[in-house]
Amino acid sequence: MKKKILIIEKIHEDGLKLLDSRKDIEYELVENCETNYLSEKLKDCDAITLRNIDFNKELITAAPKLKIISRHGVGYDNVDLQTAKERNIILAITPKANSVSVAEHVFFMMLNISRGFDIYDTFTREKDFETRTDLDLTKELWNKNILIIGFGRTGKSLIKRCIGFDMNVFVYDPYIEKELIKEYGGKKTDDYKTTIKDMDYVSVHTPLTKETKNMINIEVLNSMKKSSILINTARGGVINEKDLNEALNKNNIFGVGLDVYENEPISLNNPLLKNKKIFLTPHAATHTKECTIRMAKDTVQNIIDFFDNKLEQSNIVKL
Ligand SMILES: NC(=O)c1ccc[n+]([C@@H]2O[C@H](COP(=O)([O-])OP(=O)(O)OC[C@H]3O[C@@H](n4cnc5c(N)ncnc54)[C@H](O)[C@@H]3O)[C@@H](O)[C@H]2O)c1
Repeated sequence: MKKKILIIEKIHEDGLKLLDSRKDIEYELVENCETNYLSEKLKDCDAITLRNIDFNKELITAAPKLKIISRHGVGYDNVDLQTAKERNIILAITPKANSVSVAEHVFFMMLNISRGFDIYDTFTREKDFETRTDLDLTKELWNKNILIIGFGRTGKSLIKRCIGFDMNVFVYDPYIEKELIKEYGGKKTDDYKTTIKDMDYVSVHTPLTKETKNMINIEVLNSMKKSSILINTARGGVINEKDLNEALNKNNIFGVGLDVYENEPISLNNPLLKNKKIFLTPHAATHTKECTIRMAKDTVQNIIDFFDNKLEQSNIVKL
């Protein structure tokens, strides 16, 4: 009998092409993620690929044959880990696929906010590209302090780019040795609340856990430099959104780049959408063509490797 993969939400076709030569595997793509519909589809599948939907207890229970959840990406806070563990289901991620794209996205945001794209766009059009020498609107990254919170795959990709821009890099990650951070050209801090006060840029790269939820709250935001720029491409909830809006409205920080939100997709009523000091992208840090292909291929390859008993340990999340 053929093994069945349910592809939950579309992935790049280059990933699906890997299955072309496998006569022992079949797959079905589902884009309707409504619980009843999905539960029916899950009944007979051995493996799933998973993007953004919540793969909760109800859905795991609806899949009695499920042996592997292959996440398209690296975060897995949308999976009910407890139930997956009880069922001995393997959870795989694509650790090699996306950290560079996210680090580039952080630079896209930092440069964009620092160089005031919106300001330039508006005034150059209005003034018909008249040269202005009386304005001092934009910032350089050179020689500025940045705090990277979380020094995993993305934090490490980011620091290389920061060093290339001659930034002074500080790192907060209680689980990483200071020697390793030094090798990358950064300085370890054990106290992010004190270090953050002197930072020009702060970029968050931790998972969302009980420990990291709301780690940047109003008290921390109000202690930052008024000229500082904060970026979150990790997970919504690490920065408290209500507090963030308040700090921006009181001009306590200069600008923010957000790719992730407490609730996704973001509600159209969310005041963050209207705040002109926030540069927003819709969880799109990995949405380069190259990265989308890498993620799709690695997601499918993890399932093939699992079926062939050769799934790399480093792609498996310890539950
Ligand atoms: N926007 C996107 O599309 C996108 C893409 C990739 C990753 N992400 C998210 O970015 C985050 C980082 O991804 P990654 O691949 O670098 O993960 P990773 O697991 O490689 O690194 C996470 C790091 O955070 C550190 N950490 C854990 N708790 C911490 C704490 N309390 N304080 C400081 N550091 C702590 C860990 O020690 C680890 O080094 C994750 O939340 C992931 O889901 C988002």
